[in-house]
Amino acid sequence: MQIQETKKTIFSGIQPSGILTIGNYLGALRNWVQLQEEYNTYYCIVDMHAITVRQDPSVLKKRCLELLALYIACGLDPEKNTMYFQSHVSAHAELGWLLNCNAYMGELSRMTQFKDKSAKQGNNIGAGLLTYPVLMAADILLFNTDLVPIGSDQKQHLELARDLAERFNNVYGQTFTVPEPYIGKSGARIMSLQEPNKKMSKSDENVNAFISMVDPADVVMKKMKRAVTDSGSGIIYSPDKPGISNLIDIYASCKGVTPKEVEKEFEGAGYGTFKEAVGTAVAEILTPIQQKQKELLSDKAYLEKIFTEGADKARYTANRTLWKAQKRMGLAPRKL
Ligand code: AMP
Ligand code: TRP
Repeated sequence: MQIQETKKTIFSGIQPSGILTIGNYLGALRNWVQLQEEYNTYYCIVDMHAITVRQDPSVLKKRCLELLALYIACGLDPEKNTMYFQSHVSAHAELGWLLNCNAYMGELSRMTQFKDKSAKQGNNIGAGLLTYPVLMAADILLFNTDLVPIGSDQKQHLELARDLAERFNNVYGQTFTVPEPYIGKSGARIMSLQEPNKKMSKSDENVNAFISMVDPADVVMKKMKRAVTDSGSGIIYSPDKPGISNLIDIYASCKGVTPKEVEKEFEGAGYGTFKEAVGTAVAEILTPIQQKQKELLSDKAYLEKIFTEGADKARYTANRTLWKAQKRMGLAPRKL
């Protein structure tokens, strides 16, 4: 694969911590696919982020490979994108350490996701949960990333990555590119089907709250029919109709249209008809992806080749940035 230095760089990652939902797809993965032509892209499976909460090792191992297969099944071309496991490139952890030494307890404990996740954990809150956004900053800064495609829940973490980059550059001299977020126009925040004021999450205890990327068409339809809607009627996109607005968002992003256009298409229609249309639109996207993922998972050697070559390529660039940062901080320099 040819690295084209003229192209701008993109880095993004997803945790292999559960079965992905259509929120991950519509908020992140689908945008990655669109960006692959124009950018030099690194799409990582961030396994070291997943272990900030305890994982069953045998399940995690399986999920890592499934996620790589899903990346490809969703349309990421292995010839055009660098795809690999974060733990295979040790520079992530090493730069994470350097940045930890420049991050403040205050800014980390203020992160919304830390507050949410630590509240759920009770007494023994893992230190990794607090320092996780620093590792995410390291992921991004290692590649002199220009753009980071993410769902809107990750905006705060990206802000921290920018702050850390600027702080480091100010103290030790220009080292890192300050990254920008890329948040898609639609689908940036898909909400729970059961509690539409809450983000759709793969770790939700209620399986009816999310549609997973492996849900078969009949399950998708069933979950859609059970989706909580609002009182009244009408397919109207409005903050006081969070349930129906979320379904409009899902439909709009599946079809590549605006919420206004959806309102028009379903003028006069009832909730039942609309829910069925949303279910069909989602299933039409999922079915071919599921078939492709299954095919890919039956060829482990092919997947291994992709993640090995991906890590080799990522390691080269990542080490150059790591060594530069180490040198800037006064650690004994080595030849680039
Ligand atoms: P995670 O599953 O937390 O590793 O998230 C992977 C990517 O999916 C990130 O860019 C998230 O912002 C995005 N994402 C996760 N859940 C949603 C959601 N409900 N709506 C939109 N984007 C999401
Ligand atoms: N923290 C992100 C999430 O939970 C995943 C992630 C880790 C990431 N490192 C990243 C996303 C770097 C973008 C860039 O969704």
